[in-house]
Formats: sequence, structure tokens, C-alpha cells
Amino acid sequence: MSTVDDGHRVFAVVIEGRGRLRRHLASAAAAAAEAFPAARLLLAVEPEELESETVATLVADGVAHLVAPLPLSLADLTADLHRLWLLWHIDAAGAASDMPSGGGSAGATADGEPLMVGDGTAMREAFARIRRFAATDVPVLITGESGTGKELAARAIHERSAVAGGPFVAINCGGIPADLVAAELFGHEKGAFTGAHQRRPGRIEMADGGTLFLDEIGDFPMHLQPHLLRFLQEGTFERVGGLETLRINTRIIAATNVDLEEAVDSKTFRRDLFFRLNVLRLHLPPLRERGDDVTLLARYYIDRLRHAHGKPLARLTPEALVAIRNHPWPGNVRQLISALRRGLTLCRRGRITSADLGLNDDPAAGSEAPPPSLEAARAEAEKAAVLSAMRHAHNRPSAAAETLGISRVTLYSLMKKHDLARRFELKTRR
Ligand SMILES: Nc1ncnc2c1ncn2[C@@H]1O[C@H](COP(=O)(O)OP(=O)(O)OP(=O)(O)O)[C@@H](O)[C@H]1O
Ligand SMILES: [Mg+2]
Repeated sequence: MSTVDDGHRVFAVVIEGRGRLRRHLASAAAAAAEAFPAARLLLAVEPEELESETVATLVADGVAHLVAPLPLSLADLTADLHRLWLLWHIDAAGAASDMPSGGGSAGATADGEPLMVGDGTAMREAFARIRRFAATDVPVLITGESGTGKELAARAIHERSAVAGGPFVAINCGGIPADLVAAELFGHEKGAFTGAHQRRPGRIEMADGGTLFLDEIGDFPMHLQPHLLRFLQEGTFERVGGLETLRINTRIIAATNVDLEEAVDSKTFRRDLFFRLNVLRLHLPPLRERGDDVTLLARYYIDRLRHAHGKPLARLTPEALVAIRNHPWPGNVRQLISALRRGLTLCRRGRITSADLGLNDDPAAGSEAPPPSLEAARAEAEKAAVLSAMRHAHNRPSAAAETLGISRVTLYSLMKKHDLARRFELKTRR
């Protein structure tokens, strides 16, 4: 065990889990945490220990702040200590200024993108974290259900960070077929595979000097995880089919709506990669846990959208506001926005009622049939949207993808997922 200080206070304790200590990792970590309450703990363990129950528990309980596999190189140790030092400072700054400051919004964008709206305790805490995290260059993992604003929060961090002048590049790891992820992320050389007619830079290269947003990171293919891990550790990678090692400097933000700890337990996500991504954590609560923020959001979006709908005077009736407040909103902010759009379209004389918002038509009402699971309902809606877009586009995938606001690759993967691929292939061949 060794301690690292900044001349005044111990800010990090490094515990090497080998030899005798390895058997007593938990008690050594607990003793260190007790002896240096303000310090951050780095566990350096044998690679096979990364998977152990003890290490998982120490991380889950917040005792260990970083875990690194042995042997530690000087460069790794320096980088890890830098992270711990940043964590230490962030926490110290947070404790000193844990005021509900600047609640209301974060992440104003220059190009008319919405602000992050919220004034309740949960969102004030999230805004405070966004501000603190933006001041660092450490990876951030954003968690939260679908539609809770993970991408918006990632942009808010980017826009307040030192690399705000650089690009914000997103890649949706779940929306790309697994065999294309490597080329999309790392780029490819000419002739790397059939159809690779020219060299193409990947998203990592595009994000040089900015932020790389790895969305739906839980879907990142297992076989590519070591390459991503290496990039996170060393900043280096090769394009698919390339020999040249490239070095890129980009801030990493990842997001997931699945439980990554569970994915680690079920061996679909590497524990060491999880540790690298999960340095700073931002959780966005579901709308149903945000209290009055839901009506604040509704008012904000009506204000934003009513002109575009040609109804500049439209407003929500008091009854509609109560219905909005009481609705469970399984689809979170995204679902709220589409209900408001529907309300703006259907309302008469500028009065948006709960019926206009669709909050009165409960499809399950009066029927004994159990409601579908959220996953089944989402899949059904996704399939219907693909079918409808293809119909409108006369079976032209590019036009359908454009209508849906997704790439052609994503459209193909959705068709594959919903068993529609053959159906459209047959039609286009005729
Ligand atoms: N706090 C907020 N204030 C204003 N708008 C918000 C807020 N949170 C989310 N939104 C809006 O809700 C929509 C969904 O947000 P976003 O795409 O960031 O969610 P997400 O968590 O990334 O969803 P998914 O998991 O489905 O990708 C966007 O239109 C976004 O602008
Ligand atoms: Mg998203």
C-alpha cells in the first residue's frame, strides 16, 4: 500500500492486490478508506482478479475508485493518479459548492437546440454534475432510461468543456450491425473489405480535438472491446485493414440504458472496459421521478413548438397539466414531446386538452388483456415506423431512412431485427 499526496493531504491510496494482500484485498481497502477518508483508492490487481467478487463489491460499494490490472506501467500509473486527483478535486469542489445553484437549465446551445430544463432536486444535482464533469477531460458514463436526455446531457458537457470548440461526434453502437462497428469507429483502409473502395476515417478520427459520444455502449460488440479499451488507455488504434498506428486526442462520453454492471456479470461487457468508462457517472432520472419538472418541461416545449405548428397562442388547459403531471411517461421526455406535438396538431381554439395529448385513450382500458411489456410495445412501434416509412418512400431505403431520421445502415439493421429484410428485397427485385 502506498499513499500519494499533493503536499498537504493524501488524495490517493494505491493498494497492490498481489501476494498476501491479494487474499485480504477487502480488509486492506476498508482499512485504507478508514485511515484516509478523503482519499481515493486505486486497486492494482492481477488481471484475473478483475473478475473477482471482491473487486466487484469494492467498486459497487464505492470503496475503490479505480481498478487497474498489474503490471502497472509508469504511464498508466500517472494517468490513473491524474484521474484520481481530478475525482478528488471534483468531489472537493462539489462539497464546497453543493448549492442548488443555477437550477433550471444547463447546456444552452448556439444552434437552437433545446436547453436542459429542470428545477427539481434530481435535475439540479444532474446539472451540478454536468458543470463539474465539464471541467475535466475524464470519461463520463451517462445512465438513464430511453428518452431521459442522455445525448442532450453529453452535448451539454461537451459545450461547457475545454474542447467545446472541437467536434461532438456520436456513434450509436446499438444501431450499427456488429460487423460494421469496427469500420465505423476506427475507419478503414482502401480494400480492407468488399466495398471498401477508398480509405475512410472513423468516428474516432472525426472526434479528434473534441468529444466522442459512444451511445448505447452496452451493445458494443464483445470482440471489439479490447480495441476500444486500448484506445481508452493509450489513445491509439489502427484503421481496419491498416498497419499505421494512429494517435487521437478526444474526450470520451458513453451512455447506456441497460445496466452495465449486469452486463459485466453476464460476461457480455468487459469489466476492465467498464472501469475505464465509468470514471465519472451521471444518472438521469426517469420523468416519473422528476415531480413538477414534467409540467415545467411541457410548458417549455409548448412555448418552443407552438409557432412551428402555426398556433402561436396555444396553451395547455389546467386539466391537461394535471393529466401530464399524473401520467407515468414510460418513454420519458421524448414521449412527452411527441404527446405535446400531437396536442398542438389536434387542439382547437388554442386550448390543448388531455384528450388532444392522447392521455385519455388508454388502449388497455376496459379490456382484460394485460398491457404489453415496454420492450414489446417499443419493438412494435419501431416495426410499424419502418413499414410506414418504406411504404411512403415506395420501398426506397434511402428515402425511408431520411424520413425516419436514421442512416441507411440503421434502417437495414432494423429491417433485419424485425424480419423485414427479405420482404423488401423481394419487392425491389421484382
Ligand atoms: N431536461 C430536458 N430538457 C429539455 N429537453 C430534454 C430534456 N431531456 C431530454 N430532452 C429532449 O428529449 C428528447 C430525448 O432526449 P435524448 O435523445 O437526449 O435522450 P436519450 O436518453 O439519449 O434517449 P435514448 O436512450 O432513446 O437514446 C430530445 O428531443 C431532447 O432534446
Ligand atoms: Mg440517445
